[in-house]
Amino acid sequence: MLLLSAFISAAFASQVNAAAAKAKAPKASSFAGSTTTFQFPPDDVLATASLIDSFFPVASVVGFPGPTPTGDEAESVATAPANAPVNAFYPLVRPNTSDNKGKSFNVVDSWANLSPMQSVESFGLDDTSELIPEGCALNQAFLLHRHGARYPTSGASPAAFATAVNAAASNGTFSATGPLSFLNTWTYRLGAEILTPFGREQLFELGVGFRVKYGDLLKNFTGLPVWRTTSEERMVDSALHFAAGFFGVQQYTSDYHQLIEIEQLGFNSTLAPYEDCPNANNEIAELGTQATTAWAEVYLKDAQKRLAPHLPGFNLTIADVLAMQTICPYETVALGFSSFCDLFTEEEWKGFAYSIDLTFWYTNGPGNPSVSAQGIGWVEELVSRLTQTRITTPRSSTNQTIVGSNVTFPLFQPIFVDATHDTVISAIVTAMNFTSLAAGGPLPLDHIPKDHTYIVNQISPFASRMVGQVLSCPASDKPTHIRWVLNDAVLPQTGIAGCKYDKDGLCPLDTFIAGMKQRIQEVDFDFDCFANYTFTLAGDKITTGQFPK
Ligand SMILES: *[C@@H]1O[C@H](CO)[C@@H](O)[C@H](O)[C@H]1NC(C)=O
Ligand SMILES: *[C@@H]1O[C@H](CO)[C@@H](O)[C@H](O)[C@H]1NC(C)=O
Ligand SMILES: *[C@@H]1O[C@H](CO)[C@@H](O)[C@H](O)[C@H]1NC(C)=O
Ligand SMILES: *[C@@H]1O[C@H](CO)[C@@H](O)[C@H](O)[C@H]1NC(C)=O
Ligand SMILES: *[C@@H]1O[C@H](CO)[C@@H](O)[C@H](O)[C@H]1NC(C)=O
Ligand SMILES: *[C@@H]1O[C@H](CO)[C@@H](O)[C@H](O)[C@H]1NC(C)=O
Ligand SMILES: *[C@@H]1O[C@H](CO)[C@@H](O)[C@H](O)[C@H]1NC(C)=O
Ligand SMILES: *[C@@H]1O[C@H](CO)[C@@H](O)[C@H](O)[C@H]1NC(C)=O
Ligand SMILES: *[C@@H]1O[C@H](CO)[C@@H](O)[C@H](O)[C@H]1NC(C)=O
Repeated sequence: MLLLSAFISAAFASQVNAAAAKAKAPKASSFAGSTTTFQFPPDDVLATASLIDSFFPVASVVGFPGPTPTGDEAESVATAPANAPVNAFYPLVRPNTSDNKGKSFNVVDSWANLSPMQSVESFGLDDTSELIPEGCALNQAFLLHRHGARYPTSGASPAAFATAVNAAASNGTFSATGPLSFLNTWTYRLGAEILTPFGREQLFELGVGFRVKYGDLLKNFTGLPVWRTTSEERMVDSALHFAAGFFGVQQYTSDYHQLIEIEQLGFNSTLAPYEDCPNANNEIAELGTQATTAWAEVYLKDAQKRLAPHLPGFNLTIADVLAMQTICPYETVALGFSSFCDLFTEEEWKGFAYSIDLTFWYTNGPGNPSVSAQGIGWVEELVSRLTQTRITTPRSSTNQTIVGSNVTFPLFQPIFVDATHDTVISAIVTAMNFTSLAAGGPLPLDHIPKDHTYIVNQISPFASRMVGQVLSCPASDKPTHIRWVLNDAVLPQTGIAGCKYDKDGLCPLDTFIAGMKQRIQEVDFDFDCFANYTFTLAGDKITTGQFPK
């Protein structure tokens, strides 16, 4: 959409401004038309690679893949409706609402962390484009991305709903009518945890796109890239699909090193920091669920009244209705089509998006007191990389074995790539003080606020990507500025101490680093993650992801 309109306006502009453009055109140079070429990796880089292979064990050696149920095969050519519209995510079918069939409202925009990544239009800056500002050059890029579309996590509501339906059906008490009659023959085909085929495509595409946008930076590598992910099956698969897209399927096994950090309770990894933070695994982490449960009673009341009469003999609770709504995105990204989507109205889909915004705000975002602590380890690593200063003492979820070694944690790379989870991206943007995302303040549980700024669809969709662009303005070998691009739109850095408003979202590099060092001092990892404190939804309102001191 954005590209198309840019193309059209560019075509118009080229007619109107043809003369002006000619006047601006660069002077002819003696190298015009000469051939340039580059081959990665250069021979000297490749020669040293095998010596350090042993530092990068493959997934089967690292272990800790987590559960990997596969589910059943999709057959969307048979299950999708005959006239199903093609959409941006073909072969996934674009779903309808119940009240606005085929109209402009796009249900996918309301799937929050269960939505495939779509370009964000703006985070409020005048100039929101990820293209390097005029007068600057690109020196380095940091990519932090989420895995692609996956099945539900273990124990999530979709499987529980299927179990309840099946229990009633085998009891002979189940008979669905009207819009729910498809349930009489519905089977639950989803696996758990691992990527869906579409999720693999997303990461391959991200790799291809990153090569096209940033490939020239490869020329400044003096060794093979060391890129990181965690040990869960979907995390390893995402990293490898990214690499296959970036390097090519015959090259990726030899052209870089994949570091696989252990993701398991009790282990340190900044890409899975909740494994080293008790308050991310107790009742403090339940706040988001409490908020979502309260909100579901409000926004799904009508849906429950509408749908319950079509399931005589089945006690359809609000939790069931929320589970049915949740199945829509999961079936769509796994099977291409879901009969659950058009059971709900446009309002109810907006309510669904907000229900996930609430989960994230109060469990994985600015409203939870352990969240900045979870994000701060990656910020420490970022400062280490930007200042080329090695971390010598563990302070947070950093793993000293990894960050202490120049093999597994090189301090300078033209391109850094870290793969992680939705809840970690949301923790890191909180820890970094991108406060414009929290500008609307604590989220109410009974309505969607008018000035709503915390939108998970924009922060942590499937294959979400945040890119740190290190720039020199004017162009030189010495970087002067940094800015951050979240899902293709530039983030304001005005929440970071010292970073002033800039229409391109730029902050001087030294100022940014000082701000991050201040954040590292401000965030009390030991207390926020380990202390035994009470924090309640009703009584405690924060926007910094820190326990109030
Ligand atoms: C959505 O509604 C339009 C118009 O009724 C219809 O053509 C289309 O097939 C529907 N899509 C799905 C997925 O049911
Ligand atoms: C290339 O990398 C070196 C460090 O190895 C750095 O000093 C230099 O500025 C980089 N060049 C560019 C154009 O960024
Ligand atoms: C199964 O049937 C019995 C008797 O009608 C009923 O009490 C029970 O609630 C039913 N169980 C389910 C899961 O529907
Ligand atoms: C740190 O990482 C290394 C390498 O993956 C691993 O062997 C070690 O168990 C990790 N330590 C902790 C505390 O997580
Ligand atoms: C239906 O479920 C709700 C919520 O779990 C419960 O309070 C209610 O007693 C149930 N009703 C019947 C008839 O089982
Ligand atoms: C893991 O993190 C804890 C702090 O949570 C720290 O005490 C420990 O030294 C770290 N271990 C490693 C290997 O970095
Ligand atoms: C790491 O540091 C050691 C000691 O300074 C050096 O010999 C080695 O070449 C370095 N390795 C890499 C991959 O930079
Ligand atoms: C981060 O944001 C909080 C809340 O706006 C502010 O009090 C704090 O000074 C900021 N810290 C930095 C380093 O930007
Ligand atoms: C936390 O403190 C409360 C109240 O003092 C106490 O009841 C509880 O057992 C403590 N929990 C842990 C995990 O220490």
